[in-house]
Amino acid sequence: MKLKKNILLTLIVFLISIKCYSINQEKSLSIIPQPVSIVKNNEKDFVVDKNIIIAISENSEELNFIANQLALRLRDYLSTDVNINQINRKNKHNSILLIKENIPGLGNEGYILDVNRKQITIRGTHNGVFYGLQTLYQMFPLKNDLINKSKFSIPSYTIIDKPRFEWRGGMLDVARYFQPVSVVKRYIDFLALHKINTFHWHLNDDQGWRIEIKKYPKLTEVGAWRKDSQLELSGKQMAFAPHGGYYTQEEIKDVVKYAAERFISVIPEIEMPGHSYAALASYPELSCTGGPFEVSTIWKVHEDIYCAGNEKTYEFLENILSEVIELFPASYIHIGGDEAPKTRWEACPKCQAKIAAEHLDNEHELQTYMVKRMEDFLATKNRKLIGWDEIIEGGLSPNATVLCWRGFDGAITAAKQGHDAIIAHSKYTYLDHYQSEPYLEPLAWAGLVPYGYTTLQKSYSLEPIPSELNESEQKHIIGLQAQLWLEYIRTTDHMDYMLFPRLSALAEVMWTQKEQKNWEFFKWKMETQYRRYNELNINYSMSAYTVYFDIKTDSLSNKALVSLSTDNYNPTIRYTINGDDPTENSDKYSQPFTVILPLTIKAANFNNGQRISKINQKTILKSRIGK
Ligand code: ACM
Ligand code: ZN
Repeated sequence: MKLKKNILLTLIVFLISIKCYSINQEKSLSIIPQPVSIVKNNEKDFVVDKNIIIAISENSEELNFIANQLALRLRDYLSTDVNINQINRKNKHNSILLIKENIPGLGNEGYILDVNRKQITIRGTHNGVFYGLQTLYQMFPLKNDLINKSKFSIPSYTIIDKPRFEWRGGMLDVARYFQPVSVVKRYIDFLALHKINTFHWHLNDDQGWRIEIKKYPKLTEVGAWRKDSQLELSGKQMAFAPHGGYYTQEEIKDVVKYAAERFISVIPEIEMPGHSYAALASYPELSCTGGPFEVSTIWKVHEDIYCAGNEKTYEFLENILSEVIELFPASYIHIGGDEAPKTRWEACPKCQAKIAAEHLDNEHELQTYMVKRMEDFLATKNRKLIGWDEIIEGGLSPNATVLCWRGFDGAITAAKQGHDAIIAHSKYTYLDHYQSEPYLEPLAWAGLVPYGYTTLQKSYSLEPIPSELNESEQKHIIGLQAQLWLEYIRTTDHMDYMLFPRLSALAEVMWTQKEQKNWEFFKWKMETQYRRYNELNINYSMSAYTVYFDIKTDSLSNKALVSLSTDNYNPTIRYTINGDDPTENSDKYSQPFTVILPLTIKAANFNNGQRISKINQKTILKSRIGK
């Protein structure tokens, strides 16, 4: 019987892997990221009530943790404690079974979730069962919709699922504004909910050093504190008093454990040679000029970086990495590498002597030399090096993995040279960017210079595999990452606002098979997802409800064709062209229409007679040619 079942499962997984399945989206479940296959069972719903039991197939730490998480969620719904047992013959009814099992074809992170009238089963590796549970949560009714507090039902479906990419990351910058452990854990919770398995922790930068290093106490005594802070571009004061903070090594261990329980590995980033101003404020003798420096109070790319001609710099960095490695079990260590101006190296006798002694061609090669030394050092500790895409510039160090933020070019170069690459393309994945018209949004990155903004749809539209790569090169694109830089963001509410909903869009890019991605369906699912955010007290942005204009002018006739759109499902758009603010009685948009120029158009999104977006407006003069 068991054998037959396994053969059947293998067959199903095989069919899925050769993409013989229907791509019709099952419209009754809102699951983000979208699973590989969702099939409705011809069965009654499973009813969860106070007699529900959670049963696990083995007494492993991982399954116990997952079962406890589920029990907490059920207690939240039913206000009762739920028993956790090992599976036995009695678990035929009214049970949720968590079964550790390697399912052929589903890899290390796939799962099968089956809901029928009698029981719910989630099968897979430990990781898979955890992800299956995240899917199951999205099949629970919203708590606000519960009619009866003592029971609720879960619809009967079979879901087979596995991720598209193995590297599914979220970066958090705690260097610009220190965030306490509780906020970091909350960020990790969000990653886990979205089946993201990598937390890239940006632990130091020009504006702060955030990790206790026992051998170099000044890094945190001096480097963790800013006198004040302001934004260079706008001159806007972000904080007036000294501020900062750092994590003790015990706190780091606690965060790493918290993440590991949620199947998330933590990749620490120790920036070098640039973005090192806070470290140089602590140890100025490691710069080319000798300093003095103070922890940066503004954002800018500083010219003072570690001196690459001084052997003491290497000793310092290796000693730091030695302590870091003890705290972070992940196989990768990130060494930064971005935005390191070479002006100081060009003028520094020590750096020039190193270039000559090592027969290097230029300062870019000096950076590669430094990266290569770090890579060799990490290799002695059985760790792999990862760096931002600038590490390509002087030639890639032999085994480096590249995190590509400046577009796809770095990823293409890296993959063609046989290196692994991760997409962090700023236009899609930088969540400190504006997510709608800048004038309607809180101050964000590049606020004072013309810059495109990263809407929900823009993030969703990311296809991480560049078409320039052939099949074997494509395998080197191991995944992608969302980035939350905090130069312009201090508070938890503001972090939420920038993360959501775009994190949900990027999670679907990370996890969902290309054929299953569907923007229209995603927008439909988001309507439920926003309500989930509410239940999680997430201060998400509603910028996806903004009305956007596409205005095609015809200079000959002085007419324009106006199209209106939003990033939400089935919007009710109302607009005016007489200068008045749109109300629930204004014209309702149904299709592109022609207007005579000049024109001021104002538009907003409505639901049940209430305006649910800001009013966006645009004026087009007669003389304007083109869009
Ligand atoms: C970066 O945005 N400098 C990686
Ligand atoms: Zn130097």
